Amino acid sequence: MISIDEQRGVVLLSTNSSSYAFALLEHSYPSHLHWGDRIGSVRGPTVHQSGRRPFSVQAPVHGTYLSLGSLPSEYGWSGSGDFRIPSWEAVDEQGFPIIEPWHERHSIHPGKPALDGMPSSYTKAGDNSETLKVVLRDKPSGLAIHLRYTVFPTYDVITRSTVFCNDGENSINLTRAGSLCVDLDGSDFEVLSLHGAWGREAQLSRHALAPGVYSFGSRTGTTSHFANPFVALAPPSATEHTGAVRAALLMYSGNFRADVERTFDDDVRLVLGINPDSFSWMLGPGERFTTPEVLLVYSAAGLNGMSQIYHRFIRERVMPRRFQDAPRPIVANNWEATYFDFTHDSLLPLLDAAAQVGVELFVLDDGWFGDRESDGKSLGDWTVNRRKLPRGLEGLAADVAEHGLELGLWFEPEMVSPDSDLHRAHPDWCLHIPGREKPLGRNQLVLDLSRPEICREIIDRVSSVLESAPISYVKWDMNRYLSYPVSPSLPAERRKELSHRYVLGLYQIWDALTTRFPKVLFAGCSGGGGRFDAGVLSYFPQIWASDNSDAVDRLRIQYGLSLVYPVCAIEAHVTSIPNHQVGRFTPFSTRGNVALSANFGFELDLTALDDEDRRIAEKLVATAKKYRRLIHGGRFVRLESPFDAGSNRVAWMFVDEKARLALLFAFQLLSSANREGRAVPLVGLEPETLYRVSWLDSGDLRLMGFTAPPQSDPFTEGPVRCIGAELMGRGVELPRVLGDFVSFRFLIEAE
Ligand code: DGJ
Repeated sequence: MISIDEQRGVVLLSTNSSSYAFALLEHSYPSHLHWGDRIGSVRGPTVHQSGRRPFSVQAPVHGTYLSLGSLPSEYGWSGSGDFRIPSWEAVDEQGFPIIEPWHERHSIHPGKPALDGMPSSYTKAGDNSETLKVVLRDKPSGLAIHLRYTVFPTYDVITRSTVFCNDGENSINLTRAGSLCVDLDGSDFEVLSLHGAWGREAQLSRHALAPGVYSFGSRTGTTSHFANPFVALAPPSATEHTGAVRAALLMYSGNFRADVERTFDDDVRLVLGINPDSFSWMLGPGERFTTPEVLLVYSAAGLNGMSQIYHRFIRERVMPRRFQDAPRPIVANNWEATYFDFTHDSLLPLLDAAAQVGVELFVLDDGWFGDRESDGKSLGDWTVNRRKLPRGLEGLAADVAEHGLELGLWFEPEMVSPDSDLHRAHPDWCLHIPGREKPLGRNQLVLDLSRPEICREIIDRVSSVLESAPISYVKWDMNRYLSYPVSPSLPAERRKELSHRYVLGLYQIWDALTTRFPKVLFAGCSGGGGRFDAGVLSYFPQIWASDNSDAVDRLRIQYGLSLVYPVCAIEAHVTSIPNHQVGRFTPFSTRGNVALSANFGFELDLTALDDEDRRIAEKLVATAKKYRRLIHGGRFVRLESPFDAGSNRVAWMFVDEKARLALLFAFQLLSSANREGRAVPLVGLEPETLYRVSWLDSGDLRLMGFTAPPQSDPFTEGPVRCIGAELMGRGVELPRVLGDFVSFRFLIEAE
């Protein structure tokens, strides 16, 4: 709910459990007051440090002076004495900075407006959401800055975005346009963020703040494998289950930057938005520019509390409505089974095997089009390769349907191979610098999505394939970064608009295709998790998390992603051993339990399974089908982290709304002689309820030919009965099993 004390100029935004407040000092300057526990009102002084500070600069505001350099700001800028990291910057036609964005008006509106050309979260009737618009204006230039805040009371989420409007008569050049600026008191925070590289995405980083600015982000044109557009601040004492966490997630799929500054006063400024390094935007008279949305979460219940807020919100207010409750299909993808080497006939045994274990959808990956035999050619030529598929996609779809499966298809529509008919016909359609050679990434070039005619062509080409056969799933891949984001079609003064224009073009394409094919489930991918963000998730409800499906590495990747993203957004497949990316051998059941903990599927040659593994595969599929509502819609609770120092065990669980049903997964990494493992204490059960704990995958312990009965097994007599308080106190005792990379799956049911 939003309330405004007009007399004192205090704005208070509250969700059910959190509040966010700022003041309009001198009725002009939006100065941050509070982001934390829910409060009923702001009674105290609204200025933290009054008076002039030594060496401070005073900005003239309506006949008085404000020393902005140390005041908490809602949307700080440079040029008026605030020397911290700015959240926006603009210059007028003469190149003079715009520096007087004073409050002009504000208003409260029910619901939430959509963002121009950008993905955004949405409200539904009954949400009681409200939006606050605060308009700041620099009178000399005519620049108006509309700060928008929407409160989702029952979700405990506040969203922010900014619209810049040029109401003046001359052009304005926007050189920085952040989505979030917030100044927090004190600096006893650690910064949490997700970093990585191809094959090891979403590694959790947590560290103290040194004086100065800690920045991270991407310059790849995508969100990238290197970093995720998420940042959280928490006291060092915060744990998975306790402590105050403040977090921000940018809903954007392009270059971004997070700046966390520990200021000279030992306070903290957090700025998040489009990366200003590769950005500027020329705003002509009458034009507007909208920043991406940022999703703010405050949790007093530690990191799990924060994650559960994000999970529910992304599932219910970001992902396309039609996939919210729809069960996600269990897929078999042919990529690691065949790579480029397949034909219609050679796929048939894979279909048999997939159908036999209970798979629901078969995904034909890269190589079905043009003259594609390797990654060296044909991107852009989205016509079926008749040598491989003589009966076309329609013929393949018919055989897929015969097996009781649906068909999914791989595309990489943003790219073009130099060796392709598309490139031969339109050599200027890729991003390039005229007169210079074009650098390649995976032998390919990036199409210029800042050009509407190219976007239209992509929409048409993908549409005609989707219309040619019953295809119910699309894997949308993207396998290179934008190394030099330049479009010759943009004038010199607009060159730095390209990266953002590319993302806007992409969103238009996704919007058009997902609207035209509402029943098709689109899944995102960028060489694995190179573009895993809430912008993608607002069109595509799931994303391939990593090209690395090694069970041990995936524990870290999926744990990291779960900080923010619901598990139904994370695609995870069982692949073969030795693992193709790291060469590790892990038990089939462990690979299965890792994949079961997300959006389950297979990506190995199912025809090569022996009887025992086929039996395990069938059981995994049956479990995925039986519990997918719980796994995808229940509360996901992280229990033991792979990122803890010396971690040798990982555990997490899924609990239903009423705590009547839960699934517990525990992964034991390296084996150790004569060491009794600790039990795994659970979280979120009813203390007095009697629960029955069953070990679901007992008997799946065979590892690479070595089978030994558990050395100790608390479940020999069958399920164990305990009350919730015992399970949350002492925990679930794990059977003692020999071997590395062993895993366990338990069902916990209230009696
Ligand atoms: C990269 C993806 O992440 C893989 O899953 C696979 O689709 C290949 N591209 C195909 O080229």
